[in-house]
Amino acid sequence: MSNYHIKHLEEYFQVYNKSVNDPETFWGEIAEENFIWHKKWDKVLQWDFTKPEVKWFEGAKLNITENCLDRHLITRADKTAILFEPNDPKEGAQHISYRTLHERVCRMANVLKEQGVEKGDRICIYLPMIPELVFTVLACARVGAVHSVVFAGFSSTALATRINDCDCKMVITSDGSYRGKKTIDLKGIVDEALKDCPTVNTVLVAKRIKSDITMVANRDHWLQPLMDAASTNHKAEIMDAEDPLFILYTSGSTGSPKGMLHTTAGYMVYSSYTFKNVFNYQENDVYWCSADVGWITGHSYIIYGPLANGATSILFEGVPSYPDYGRFWEVVEKHGVNQFYTAPTAIRALAKEGSAFPEKYNLSSLKVLGTVGEPINEEAWHWYDDHVGRNNSPIVDTYFQTENGGIMLTPLPYITPTKPTFATLPFIGIQPALMDENGKEIKGNQVSGRLCIKFPWPSIARTIWGNHQRYKETYFTAFKNKYFTGDGALRDESGYYRITGRVDDVIIVSGHNLGTAPIEDAINEHPDVAESAIVGYPHDIKGNALYGYITLKASGKSRDEDTLRKEINQTITEHIGPIAKLDKIQFSDGLPKTRSGKIMRRILRKIAHNESDNLGDISTLLNPEVVQSVIDNAL
Ligand code: PRX
Repeated sequence: MSNYHIKHLEEYFQVYNKSVNDPETFWGEIAEENFIWHKKWDKVLQWDFTKPEVKWFEGAKLNITENCLDRHLITRADKTAILFEPNDPKEGAQHISYRTLHERVCRMANVLKEQGVEKGDRICIYLPMIPELVFTVLACARVGAVHSVVFAGFSSTALATRINDCDCKMVITSDGSYRGKKTIDLKGIVDEALKDCPTVNTVLVAKRIKSDITMVANRDHWLQPLMDAASTNHKAEIMDAEDPLFILYTSGSTGSPKGMLHTTAGYMVYSSYTFKNVFNYQENDVYWCSADVGWITGHSYIIYGPLANGATSILFEGVPSYPDYGRFWEVVEKHGVNQFYTAPTAIRALAKEGSAFPEKYNLSSLKVLGTVGEPINEEAWHWYDDHVGRNNSPIVDTYFQTENGGIMLTPLPYITPTKPTFATLPFIGIQPALMDENGKEIKGNQVSGRLCIKFPWPSIARTIWGNHQRYKETYFTAFKNKYFTGDGALRDESGYYRITGRVDDVIIVSGHNLGTAPIEDAINEHPDVAESAIVGYPHDIKGNALYGYITLKASGKSRDEDTLRKEINQTITEHIGPIAKLDKIQFSDGLPKTRSGKIMRRILRKIAHNESDNLGDISTLLNPEVVQSVIDNAL
């Protein structure tokens, strides 16, 4: 018997030990007893981290959407699968049952086929948080096309880069999107992006804000009429376990975004099993994850994990501050939300508005609170616990990454005693290791080091689309035979893990993973910029904010600094999106460099952190004299 739902701490340890001592038997049982397959696998796991290569359930045949939809039609056809809560509460929520969701996904799958989509094609989805987003993601999976969802806050340049990287043949978007009081011209952004995307021959457009947009003949089609005309029957494509399911881009510390490729069976098993246990989901619960589907949290914990478990999952189009800062709690009360999952940034922003907002609402339905995406500080943790959970709902601080596919470190609610700021223990099957800088594992407790994972788990990304070498170098080279997360962590006296933050040039701003290199590349496009370096510094709400040190060309030196700052942030918005804008921009005559010409970010980071009295030895720099002037002009 597999332990699909773990009920107490002793069982957690037993199951954990089983998953580590005999992973193949363990995952084989979980997969066999809880999912439907057209054919069973020949081998549960094959792996080699030196290549690196990981294969789970090879030889098995399945379609993930039959596990998320068809099988529920027998017992849950009328149960709400997706509960859509629009941006404007006055519009009213939509309950989409498993029957309706299945029907819409089948129609959408037929639309994709009619438009020439074949198994293996890449489809870019650039949509707001509306039901069509769920239909199209699942329809791609149903026909065997690889979806690449791009967060609809990215700019046209960022969108074009992602479309071209994996040669998408179709883009699915909407006329526009709502964001609080504002509307955003998504179709305009797509049109701009497509000037540089030769592989795209079809654009499907959902109608959301009813704006006046231009449709390009023979390329653009309104989605709804096609859906209305399509059949509600669709036989799912039978996929191999290791067939690609989706690509999701994440920032790296260098160069272009990395298209993390996730495959079918292992991802399904792990996202589903983690969902059930991390949120202790019970049959009639209403679950809400406020993330965007444009991030991995939305893929695994709004769509695939919940639907594989036959759950009711809220799809929230809005923002926490509209119509006012009580919006989240109003939704919790209105729908009787049982599990609520959000990011520390949102918690900090809401805490700043005071406890009067949550106090106005009946939050007694809540049973589990979750947090994800960045370290949660102690103050925010307690505010969440006191004012939202009312000390009655355990907080699961869940740690994972786009690359991981599913939650890696987490307490299990009502089972693992929680500790503020600690993601506590590894999930079943996860074998963490802390490493020192010389590549040796640090054993024992009360230690800290670089967080690695020693053994594959079912939903590990299999490669970076089109660049396996980069995959190997980024994750499997720093520490032999181990997956390196890029994060630092400590393990306390009881073996609990706390993530201390990135140890590379990735900065987590408001829960968004931003590489410094792509931002610097964008800034350097400004005609007056000679050179730039970005570092993070602590910020009350965003966790980290961006501090840019910029040297100007002669052409920029006589210009007004505030105008330049605005232009530089505008350049960043155009190349990446508003999420990557700098909070502080300091102009400097030079940047501290090593003798080989590398910018010393360590020094710039200390200055941004107000720690300039502790810079260490700077005498070996190429230009030690610039350090004092950078300190004197620090913002
Ligand atoms: O630094 C870690 C941080 O977010 C990074 C992964 O970002 P992304 O791929 O965008 O996925 C975010 C959502 C899963 C990690 O390398 N991070 C994520 N969760 C936590 C966290 N840091 C501390 N605590 C967490 N719970």
